[in-house]
Amino acid sequence: MKRNILITGGAGFIGSHVVRLFVNKYPDYRIVNLDKLTYAGNLANLRDIERQPNYAFVHGDICDFDAVCEIFRKYDIDGVIHLAAESHVDRSIRDPFTFAKTNVLGTLSLLQAARNHWNGDWEGKRFYHISTDEVYGALGFDGTLFTERTKYDPHSPYSASKASSDHFVRAFHDTYGMPTIVTNCSNNYGPYQFPEKLIPLFINNIRHGKPLPVYGRGENVRDWLYVEDHARAIDLIFHRGRIAETYNIGGFNEWRNIDLIRVIVRTADRLLGNPEGHSEHLITYVTDRAGHDLRYAIDSRKLKEELGWEPSLQFEEGIEKTVAWYLANQPWLDDITSGQYQKYYDEMYAGR
Ligand code: NAD
Ligand code: DAU
Repeated sequence: MKRNILITGGAGFIGSHVVRLFVNKYPDYRIVNLDKLTYAGNLANLRDIERQPNYAFVHGDICDFDAVCEIFRKYDIDGVIHLAAESHVDRSIRDPFTFAKTNVLGTLSLLQAARNHWNGDWEGKRFYHISTDEVYGALGFDGTLFTERTKYDPHSPYSASKASSDHFVRAFHDTYGMPTIVTNCSNNYGPYQFPEKLIPLFINNIRHGKPLPVYGRGENVRDWLYVEDHARAIDLIFHRGRIAETYNIGGFNEWRNIDLIRVIVRTADRLLGNPEGHSEHLITYVTDRAGHDLRYAIDSRKLKEELGWEPSLQFEEGIEKTVAWYLANQPWLDDITSGQYQKYYDEMYAGR
């Protein structure tokens, strides 16, 4: 079946894995990647698929309602996978307005453009919104997990903006009948993540002998999922998930930050040929993140029971692959930390 799918935020970390999967797996689909190319968007993440005939890149802002309507018209979009967002909690603490604008108003702009274009004909249409486990708030150390029925309780401006966008998506189903789906996923790791997030930041700092800033006492817990497993879940849910449902996606893979950091240090030292313990001294405890959620952990049994999805990669294998990827792709890290990567758009796309 032919489809015209709009993927937003496809030049970012998770989005680039989703675009790659869809472009390669579905040659009959047209994949339109709409991305503003903020500091987090990097077209070099998609170099291997950018010349495929079923792929189109549009440089634009999801908040620009007229431009989004024009994309729906031009490509006759019948499915949306919405990933574009401001995604870093620390930035949201410094600049909450940008998060409200992109994550809330940007999502509303896409919903309204889809509603206008589909004009009540919902047959074969789908609006799939990618959200986060952070909307559920924080867990204690009592072993409980977030389920799809856990009450929303966001604490950071980032999670508040994502929670708000989730509500808008569900409201468009309940009010207008739009076929929507929302998924809430735990922390992703893997290649192409912007090195402001814990894992790539720390690998890059180890490489350069720079301090590893551990917030608070390093006791916060996150549930880590390899990014390609998330992309696989998105593919499955986009095609076979039930309309108006929410699915949690997680790795059943909880790590205390400090324990994870020690694994990263050991793995990086080994792969760099350093003696064991060489980079341990870089671990530096710093002031805690404001409102730092203690623990996230996802119960993804519904997704397993309904659609048979499970993480495919053991964490030990995933972290080894990830550390090895960043060490082998130092030019990617150097371009992104120096700002060089932003020239790629001009070279590849300007004037096309
Ligand atoms: P990212 O920051 O790496 O990428 C975001 C992308 O969105 C970038 O390419 C950026 O240029 C683009 N973008 C930002 N504002 C835009 C705008 N106004 N218009 C068009 N494009 C814009 O983010 P990520 O980590 O890949 O996360 C993708 C999505 O998944 C987000 O919605 C995030 O909330 C969600 N999520 C992320 C994680 C995680 O661990 N990274 C976990 C669960 C959910
Ligand atoms: O849970 C899903 C979320 O995971 C996504 O919705 C977000 O987009 C994504 O950024 C991520 O949020 P976190 O805040 O959990 O990720 P981050 O990599 O920023 O931090 C992971 C943990 O490590 C967190 O407890 C804070 C801590 N940390 C982070 C950084 C950057 C440090 O101790 N030091 C650091 O320098």
